[in-house]
Amino acid sequence: MLRRLYPDQPESFAFTPANQEWAEAQISKYPEGRQASAIIPLLWRAQEQEGWLSRPAIEHVATMLDMAYIRALEVATFYFMFQLQPVGSLAHVQVCGTTSCMICGAEDLIAVCREKIAPRAHQLSADGRFSWEEVECLGACANAPMAQIGKDYYEDLTAESFARILDEFAAGRVPKPGPQNGRFASEPAGGPTSLGGKASEKHNGSVALAVTLGDTIRRIDGSEVPLVTPWLGKGRERPRKGAATKEPKPANGLRVDETGATVQEAPAKTRAKPKAEPAAPASAEPETPPPTLEGPRKGRADDLKRISGVGPKLEALLNEMGFFHFDQIAAWTEAEIAWVDAKLEGFKGRATRDDWVGQAKALAAGGEPGTDQS
Ligand code: FES
Repeated sequence: MLRRLYPDQPESFAFTPANQEWAEAQISKYPEGRQASAIIPLLWRAQEQEGWLSRPAIEHVATMLDMAYIRALEVATFYFMFQLQPVGSLAHVQVCGTTSCMICGAEDLIAVCREKIAPRAHQLSADGRFSWEEVECLGACANAPMAQIGKDYYEDLTAESFARILDEFAAGRVPKPGPQNGRFASEPAGGPTSLGGKASEKHNGSVALAVTLGDTIRRIDGSEVPLVTPWLGKGRERPRKGAATKEPKPANGLRVDETGATVQEAPAKTRAKPKAEPAAPASAEPETPPPTLEGPRKGRADDLKRISGVGPKLEALLNEMGFFHFDQIAAWTEAEIAWVDAKLEGFKGRATRDDWVGQAKALAAGGEPGTDQS
């Protein structure tokens, strides 16, 4: 399927302050030179903010990640999760039209979309609240035919149940995702033939989490999950204003971890004692700048890239700040490290995270740091 940029583009794009902070934290997870690894989360967050991915948004993310625009465009145009044109303000419906779903009635579902939303894919409904498209296999073939609405899957659909679901959304309600024919998960239609017994849970894991989070068609705005970046000196941050004060409760042994990922809880008996969050690196002393030099001694700077985690960009930044030698970095106090960490625009917290002082001490003494060069 041809996926092209929308002809009518906005002038510009910028992340909101909360999303900007979140995006910088994602970038800081990756080693120097590998920032492009954050492309998918950042594009996704840009889409969550605006509803769709505009060209300025793709270019903005590419610039943040120091990538060629074409590389970011390749990612944005490859994945169906990225919408390259405006979508319905309430929900965008993606109907799977691949083999299993096609055999089991995907065409009937598409007919419902044409009738209830708009005659053509990617066309907004008359009230602008809905849009739809046909997509390739979404990996729920055992529950064909299915559709993704917002962030969740609606499975084992018929034209009738699908039409009812769309009506529910239109009326402002969010119907329960998952199988719509009474199946628990993807067991045979006649019931399980092995591992029998009745499931004690009300919903399968995916449905339970969807019901718990309640974010099927809610957009992420940067305040849902506390930003946890211990390497930047941020542990469990207090929730931002207006954000939920409680974390979602575990459902079916699932929980949302600090990064927002869904993980399986370990069984209670064997569950390891949670480790304490790493303490913030700042000491009780206020942050203070370390001594700097006007230029390298005898005109020759040390190769700061020998410090693991320092690449060409960070080396240039350190030189700009007046640091050229291993012994300068080796002498930083806790308060000075905190000062440097706070000043590393785009790389905040790296000095602490990668133990630059320990590495610089070894290098200044003529040895090699104990960690691998990345
Ligand atoms: S064929 Fe539709 S989910 Fe795989």
